Amino acid sequence: MHPQKVFGTSLSLLATTQLSSAILQPTPPMGFNDWARFMCNINQTVFTDAVDAMVSTGLRDVGYKLVTIDDCWPEHKRTANGSLTWNTTLFPNGLEWLSDYIHKNDMLFGIYEDAGTETCGGWPGSYGHEETDAKTFASWKVDYLKLDGCNVDSVPGQSDEETYKQIYHKWHTILPELQISFSESAPAYFVSDKSLSDWYKVMDWVPSNGQLARHSYDIATWGSGDVWDSVMTNYGYNIRLPRVQKKGFYNDPDFIIAGDSNLTLTEQKSQFALWSSFSAPLILSSNIPALTKDQLAFLMNKDLIALDQDELVQQATLVSQDSTFDILSKTLANGDRALTILNKGSSAATATVPFSKVGFSSAKSCKYSVKDLWTGETSSLSKQVVAQNIPSHGTAVYRITPSGQCKTITPGGQIFNTFTMDCLSAGSSVTSTKCGATNAEFFSISKNGTISASLAGGNCLTANGSKVTMETCTSAPQQVWSHNIQGYLINKASSNCLTAKNGTSISVAKCGDELDSQVFEIPL
Ligand SMILES: *[C@@H]1O[C@H](CO)[C@@H](O)[C@H](O)[C@H]1NC(C)=O
Ligand SMILES: *[C@@H]1O[C@H](CO)[C@@H](O)[C@H](O)[C@H]1NC(C)=O
Ligand SMILES: *[C@@H]1O[C@H](CO)[C@@H](O)[C@H](O)[C@H]1NC(C)=O
Ligand SMILES: *[C@@H]1O[C@H](CO)[C@@H](O)[C@H](O)[C@H]1NC(C)=O
Ligand SMILES: *[C@@H]1O[C@H](CO)[C@@H](O)[C@H](O)[C@H]1NC(C)=O
Ligand SMILES: *[C@@H]1O[C@H](CO)[C@@H](O)[C@H](O)[C@H]1NC(C)=O
Ligand SMILES: *[C@@H]1O[C@H](CO)[C@@H](O)[C@H](O)[C@H]1NC(C)=O
Repeated sequence: MHPQKVFGTSLSLLATTQLSSAILQPTPPMGFNDWARFMCNINQTVFTDAVDAMVSTGLRDVGYKLVTIDDCWPEHKRTANGSLTWNTTLFPNGLEWLSDYIHKNDMLFGIYEDAGTETCGGWPGSYGHEETDAKTFASWKVDYLKLDGCNVDSVPGQSDEETYKQIYHKWHTILPELQISFSESAPAYFVSDKSLSDWYKVMDWVPSNGQLARHSYDIATWGSGDVWDSVMTNYGYNIRLPRVQKKGFYNDPDFIIAGDSNLTLTEQKSQFALWSSFSAPLILSSNIPALTKDQLAFLMNKDLIALDQDELVQQATLVSQDSTFDILSKTLANGDRALTILNKGSSAATATVPFSKVGFSSAKSCKYSVKDLWTGETSSLSKQVVAQNIPSHGTAVYRITPSGQCKTITPGGQIFNTFTMDCLSAGSSVTSTKCGATNAEFFSISKNGTISASLAGGNCLTANGSKVTMETCTSAPQQVWSHNIQGYLINKASSNCLTAKNGTSISVAKCGDELDSQVFEIPL
């Protein structure tokens, strides 16, 4: 067995008591999966070539260690005793051989299966064979299972969400003992334009079963064919989920598709910077031997990998969104903050971000060391960061180190309903409107649970009966809010939930069960 099955860079340490109940990953996994690049056009050579190239380029040594075979690997028929076996045309030496090959190279072996009766590609699924298949995987020394959710039959009298919950939980009762990490694709089957209520419910239970949630569409291979659009779609789901991520459990917006010829180098780098800001899994679905020097350079950017693999594994949250920029920030383990600026527009643009929007003080007396993680250049700045000429679809990313009296962090940014994606705005009344990066949309979250419009008058979000207004801050229970994994903003005085009815009016009302109107993301 592999005593230290850590898929990312950090070997930092977990209480051993926790390891007995689950395979904890202190940082998000990094590695390779064939799917977005090769789909079913796989064979043994694809994987041995990937492993060899990961070793020779240095990718393995900067943390890319997990090598996963996606769909299309099995034989169509189970063996006489009911076990799965591999397609011998594709894998002439067999998967046990390949597993050894991967392990001998000091890497880890992942495999794909499906929770339903068939995989998405039509090979045998594991439904009703969970224990047999898990034992087979363990006998092949599999370290990681990606469990898809195609072909899960509805059960009469039960919601599909409940059916998936039972099946994924069943795997959870089997895998930890076999030391197999668990990536759950269940949430991807519940994204919907009509309502995200069931998606939220699935996101509530995936962290208790496994280590990763594949929560949205298959990157690059799903949708209109516009690959950048596909990257932005998955990004757009991930920004709705920072509350769910924690040490040992990662939101997975799907693969890094470096080398995809339908993305410019700028777009490829942008995806990498965004995923690193999220502390998302960095699983390359690329033809690794064909990666260019430029692509390898950004994939091995140590500062970005450190952002991804930071010990706090905080997912960056939105400071603001308008039609051009998405600005995100997060806290790092050493007290630094990351600042990430995506230019969604069609031409180069300059963004100016005061330190107050990154969670620090903008006082003139405060100096910050600001490292541009693309160029490696460090500047000593006060007041603000100016990101000059970010190219269209490019992402600027900085690490900001405070000094002296200026180390206090007060997270701030937009509060938005994750179904409508509209922002809370503080005025004479509190409304929910299209996000526009205005000062009225910037809220500071204090440790004691008060939420103030710190750039627009400084009043605090207050519940009075069902009404929500901005009032002078007193820290009365009407002004104290908590935010939970379900996404509810719960008022202390009434235990009721902030509610955005119809996109415009904000009120507090009895908390429902993952109602679209009651799920919000807040700055962390
Ligand atoms: C293995 O798969 C790759 C990628 O699809 C292909 O280029 C190569 O020709 C295949 N090799 C064999 C021996 O089939
Ligand atoms: C094995 O893979 C080959 C190549 O893709 C395919 O032609 C064949 O049908 C597969 N065999 C089975 C039993 O799935
Ligand atoms: C089932 O059969 C396969 C090959 O036919 C063999 O490798 C495997 O060990 C068997 N499993 C059990 C549990 O006997
Ligand atoms: C690029 O997009 C086109 C059109 O969707 C598709 O046919 C092609 O396979 C894509 N290329 C890559 C490398 O993904
Ligand atoms: C809560 O935190 C805010 C911001 O730090 C502060 O102004 C306020 O006095 C605090 N309230 C209490 C009761 O500590
Ligand atoms: C709550 O609202 C009522 C009427 O709308 C008002 O009279 C009262 O002063 C408000 N209470 C607080 C604490 O703001
Ligand atoms: C939202 O507004 C529409 C019309 O603007 C109305 O028909 C609908 O009933 C409202 N829904 C709720 C939940 O208030």
